[in-house]
Amino acid sequence: MNWIQESEQYFLPVYRRLPLEVQYGQGVFLYDRQGKAYLDFFSGLGVNALGYQHPRVQKAIEQQLKRNLHLSNFFVQDVQIELARKLLQLAGYDRLFFTNSGTEAIEGILKIVKKWGKARQKDHIICFENAFHGRTLGALSITAQEKYQKSFTPLLPGVIQLPYNDPGALLRTVNGRTAAIFLEFIQGEGGIVPAEPEFIQAIQTVREQHDVLVVGDEIQAGIGRTGKFMAYQHFDMQPDLVASAKALGGGLPLGAFLVRASLADVLQRGEHGTTFGGSPLSCAAGLAVLQEIEEKNLLQHVQKTGAYLLNQLRNLQSEFPDRIKTVRGLGLMAAMEMHQDTFPLVLKGLEKGIVLNSTAGNVLRFLPPLIVEASHIDQGVDIIRDILKQL
Ligand SMILES: Cc1ncc(COP(=O)(O)O)c(C=O)c1O
Repeated sequence: MNWIQESEQYFLPVYRRLPLEVQYGQGVFLYDRQGKAYLDFFSGLGVNALGYQHPRVQKAIEQQLKRNLHLSNFFVQDVQIELARKLLQLAGYDRLFFTNSGTEAIEGILKIVKKWGKARQKDHIICFENAFHGRTLGALSITAQEKYQKSFTPLLPGVIQLPYNDPGALLRTVNGRTAAIFLEFIQGEGGIVPAEPEFIQAIQTVREQHDVLVVGDEIQAGIGRTGKFMAYQHFDMQPDLVASAKALGGGLPLGAFLVRASLADVLQRGEHGTTFGGSPLSCAAGLAVLQEIEEKNLLQHVQKTGAYLLNQLRNLQSEFPDRIKTVRGLGLMAAMEMHQDTFPLVLKGLEKGIVLNSTAGNVLRFLPPLIVEASHIDQGVDIIRDILKQL
């Protein structure tokens, strides 16, 4: 029995595992039990921004290991403070709360939105079709995809789903009862769909007209993935609150929600908390990630390699116009929308030594580590070309 077969005896059947038994990772490659290398264009779902076994992350974890792994939020340590300071500065916010995951960051924000809205008779929340904000019941309520929600309704009341990138629908719907608008500036799970400037402009208009909170979900797109530290920084609008996670912890579980100063005291002592959130170990790893991004100018690197990736994918599109419908993305968050289900292509990729991801049915999603080089992109694109030729 291989690991995947054996795991089926123990785990709930909620995942479609890939047929790859990973022994270890190094840089932008994974290695299986037989020693075969796989170029990783998936990064553990956008988590492994610095690839595998990054020396700076490893050293930070080792140093923290020698101090303590966990203290609880009854205490605070320098490493948590340093990460908070740097994260707030890079993201452009005033206060934060650390969580373990993305969905918990969204839950915390929902509590702020609820309490803030309650004081103003605002009980509606706007979210967008094909959004993905997480799987706990609050976050699931604004994850506007039927396949995720249908078995669990009724969910939170007062949630209104609107089409993404549709300024008209937004202008018609937002009113005095709207407490908040949640959005991904580039939808990830929904198929790598960037927001259009007119859509963001409409959000800004209704925000000013109706005193609405804007919440940016930066869980997948943040921490440099799009070539800016936060994806919202590509646009002419700063959200009131943002959620972060995934790459934030350098591979350890860590999330956060960040707020502007005027929202800093909405939640009062005892109204929110977590046992593990902001663990010193995760914060040590996260601080190493942010330091590396800054000191190695990784945002610039992502802009350059991201543009190169998009360009190479567009070249592929002109070679295979009958297979590839569109290519889109921002930085190293890219996609090819195909004329077919992309999961079989992921399986073919594994055979040929590349890890890709299929999302939204017919979208091939690329989330390589931020340290990827042009030569890796060439290698990956050559493999994909091979696969497309053989279809
Ligand atoms: C945009 C976005 N929001 C929220 C989440 C949920 O994060 P987590 O799985 O850490 O709860 C994800 C996870 O894929 C995501 O991509």
